[in-house]
Amino acid sequence: MSNYVQPVLFWELSVIARPFLKWAGGKGQLLPELTRRLPASFRRYHEPFVGGGALFFHLANNDCLGAGAVLSDSNEELIRCYLVVRDDVEALIDALHVHAPHFHDPDYFREIRGWDRHPDFAQRDPVAKAARTIFLNRTCYNGLYRVNKKGQFNAPFGYYKNPLICDPVNLRAVSAALQQTEIYHDDFAGVLNRAEAGDLVYFDPPYDPVSVTASFTHYTGQDFDVDAQRRLVDVFDQLAEQGCYVMLSNSHTSLTRTLYQHVPVKDIVYASRKINCDGKKRGHVEELIVCSYANHYVAVNGVKL
Ligand SMILES: C[S@@+](CC[C@H](N)C(=O)[O-])C[C@H]1O[C@@H](n2cnc3c(N)ncnc32)[C@H](O)[C@@H]1O
Repeated sequence: MSNYVQPVLFWELSVIARPFLKWAGGKGQLLPELTRRLPASFRRYHEPFVGGGALFFHLANNDCLGAGAVLSDSNEELIRCYLVVRDDVEALIDALHVHAPHFHDPDYFREIRGWDRHPDFAQRDPVAKAARTIFLNRTCYNGLYRVNKKGQFNAPFGYYKNPLICDPVNLRAVSAALQQTEIYHDDFAGVLNRAEAGDLVYFDPPYDPVSVTASFTHYTGQDFDVDAQRRLVDVFDQLAEQGCYVMLSNSHTSLTRTLYQHVPVKDIVYASRKINCDGKKRGHVEELIVCSYANHYVAVNGVKL
């Protein structure tokens, strides 16, 4: 018997899964601040505003999710992408290869963007819809997922020179990372039906706007307003009372300071915001991280992150 091990096998196993969509409010740059505030151990991981899923992928890549994970978001197209990547990644890769050569063509972009204006959109194949969302995400202005009040995608063409529309290696790694994961299209309060004592819940809601012009809360066609922020505090408190570990990040504003003043464990950290109408106004902003538990970071589920 030969002792030869194909190098490609080792290479495939060591591939890191990265967020496969550009997403406003992505937490990539805040990962060090978030990981050092995780509890030393937890059971299942829940992320009810999953977006691009930066923290989920970080934990999955480091084998910290032995008891599995539950991801959800109220954005239907986003959740469809996660489900299709998990369950039908090869068909998705094929569909993306069809779009990829048209990256430079604004007419093609508008044609694909316009699918959701037609009554047959609901009946379209989930793989085709997921490929559309990923194609638009890679080719639209700033990778911004933006819809109008009717829920129709309306971000303009981005004029990128060489956008990466299909990344089969990452999509397969993401698919592998999602195999032990439950995925739901749901409002964040749905986590109350799924989380149990000992589980970790990370909330990363649309941020309370630091100013009127800096506001970006239109991920789904419905605003995440002050009432939603208040509803979230109730859910945070109920989960904490049930014995879950709850961590939340938000902008540091007078509203969030007031809403979370009863929680003793909180810190202000600094991050640079990426999506803003005025590019010159990108800069360091204060973010608030709130935890329902005292954190003495050593390692998470036995892994030093
Ligand atoms: C700040 S983003 C999350 C970013 C994510 N942590 C990342 O790393 O990319 C907020 C997410 O909340 C979702 N969202 C907005 N309102 C929601 C609601 N009521 N329930 C659940 N998700 C909601 C949006 O679709 C968006 O994906």
